[in-house]
Amino acid sequence: MKHIISPSMLSADFNHLAEEIEMINQSEADWFHLDIMDGVFVPNISFGLPIVAHINKLAKKPLDVHLMIVEPDRYIEDFKKAGADYLTVHYEACTHLHRTVQKIKSEEMKAGVSLNPHTPIAVLEDIVQDIDLVLLMSVNPGFGGQKFIENTYSKITQLREIASRKNPNLIIEIDGGVDSSNANKLIETGANALVAGSFVFKSEKPKNTISQLKTLKFNK
Ligand code: DX5
Ligand code: ZN
Repeated sequence: MKHIISPSMLSADFNHLAEEIEMINQSEADWFHLDIMDGVFVPNISFGLPIVAHINKLAKKPLDVHLMIVEPDRYIEDFKKAGADYLTVHYEACTHLHRTVQKIKSEEMKAGVSLNPHTPIAVLEDIVQDIDLVLLMSVNPGFGGQKFIENTYSKITQLREIASRKNPNLIIEIDGGVDSSNANKLIETGANALVAGSFVFKSEKPKNTISQLKTLKFNK
């Protein structure tokens, strides 16, 4: 299966949101990555439920919602109503992660778990069989445009090993600092979904950049 490209709308031009959404609709992107930040779990506030619902009205592809919030259980039903297809919570924000995952699945969404750069892969050993996706943070969450952390490759290798035993269909998604310098190696190492914010939206031709991420052929 070809890898998934999920452009992060955090870097989109919100003065022209409808055009940006249409650009993604027309592109080779697979999903819309939506970053929800509460100013508590991460030191930044992004956007919330009404914006997700607006994007959902125009988006013709699945919404991949990344919750960087404390107590995500409180909002699972609301994100379903707003149109989320994939709902990812942070391991570090969930005391009863298994319960949270069951709740996401009971709302008929795909369930994802995200790890911060310092959180070891081993903590996923007893949840990986219950989820659809792991989102590995390759920067510290909170902001777009940060530098990719090289240790991510080793985490992908460790996670692929666990997944091969317990959940071969697991989607391994990488988020933060993804660009032409690391995309090929991330996929070769075992990732099969890439989030990209600034690399897509700050480029001259975002639609072409998405195509390059999809084909892994970059103009020199
Ligand atoms: C960071 C967010 C990312 C961010 C990625 O906390 O989770 O999705 O938008 O942006 P880039 O690709 O610019 O690092
Ligand atoms: Zn994200």
